[in-house]
Amino acid sequence: MELETRIVKAEKGLDEAVSLIKKGELVVFPTETVYGLGADAFNGKAVEKIFAAKGRPQDNPLIVHIASPEQVRDIAVDVPSEFFLLAQKFMPGALTVVLPKSDKIPFVVTAGGNTVAVRMPDNKYARELIARSAPLAAPSANRSKHVSPTTAQHVYDDLKGEVGLILDDGPCGVGIESTVLDLTSEMPAILRPGAVTAEMLAEVLGEVSLHGKELKIAKSPGMKYEHYAPKVTTVAAESVSSAVEYYDGMLAEGKHPVLVFRDIYRDVTQDRNLVSLGVTAEDYMRNVYSALRTAEKLYDVIIIETLKGAGIERSVMNRVVKAAGGKIV
Ligand code: TXA
Ligand code: MG
Repeated sequence: MELETRIVKAEKGLDEAVSLIKKGELVVFPTETVYGLGADAFNGKAVEKIFAAKGRPQDNPLIVHIASPEQVRDIAVDVPSEFFLLAQKFMPGALTVVLPKSDKIPFVVTAGGNTVAVRMPDNKYARELIARSAPLAAPSANRSKHVSPTTAQHVYDDLKGEVGLILDDGPCGVGIESTVLDLTSEMPAILRPGAVTAEMLAEVLGEVSLHGKELKIAKSPGMKYEHYAPKVTTVAAESVSSAVEYYDGMLAEGKHPVLVFRDIYRDVTQDRNLVSLGVTAEDYMRNVYSALRTAEKLYDVIIIETLKGAGIERSVMNRVVKAAGGKIV
């Protein structure tokens, strides 16, 4: 069934969004990381619609979004004190925590698992929607395997006809998906890196394991899929000179390449096709998905800058290496 998809300013569309969620329908809502495709987390039938709309594999569990840290008690059981320590520092924010699941959450949300992922988004409209309707099970609002959406228009491009209402609150401030932290393992483990970094988490928790590689793939099913991929050939460039060399080679083959780089390399990139990532690492993180979506519309080979540092630079590279399917030049 084709739905008419409307983009409505979040403030104006909120009442309608509340009633759609209560009726078991889907709503796209803004968060600080990326846009989410939400359904009432207690309503298994509603949550099933998410998988259909995205074309998402059934074995990939969803994050449940809450409006306050205390609401975790409706979603999870045996919540450890670490959760509330983390909440003081990072909630609302770009941190998702995996906990033992409550019986009230249907297994379609957790893909049959006994754990549930919980996050309190840093967006007032998202939180108001949740507070007035229900906790929202929601993945990123992109078609499965495409890059995540950071504007309402990105969502529209991917999910037109699949969802009725997109609440628009402008571009997302963070730009990549939340950090996923597992608190059910012996040592807290980062299953997906994000803007809340291992260094920041270690300050609160003492110890955090980053990249227990096999473990990560087994435990956060989302990470095993080919994710975040643009629709055209994408490579990551070790350096600006290797990027330019590859670019010129593609051009000689009759291709239409583009450099996706920060402005600090303008002296080298200026005479070539360029989609800018801004200046700082934060700019890069905020702009990267939008830049990839722009680039794939206009060009047929994407050559993207790599960042070499720790912290958020490492988190962003996690996504970029996936976008490039591991291809480095
Ligand atoms: O920033 C975000 O996290 C965005 C916004 C909308 O909140 N959401 C998002 O959802 O990125 P999604 O579904 O695209 O990614 C959720 C990730 C997947 O890698 C999934 O496998 C993992 O979280 N995940 C969800 N529940 C889990 C669980 N119980 N145990 C381990 N990993 C889980
Ligand atoms: Mg996603």
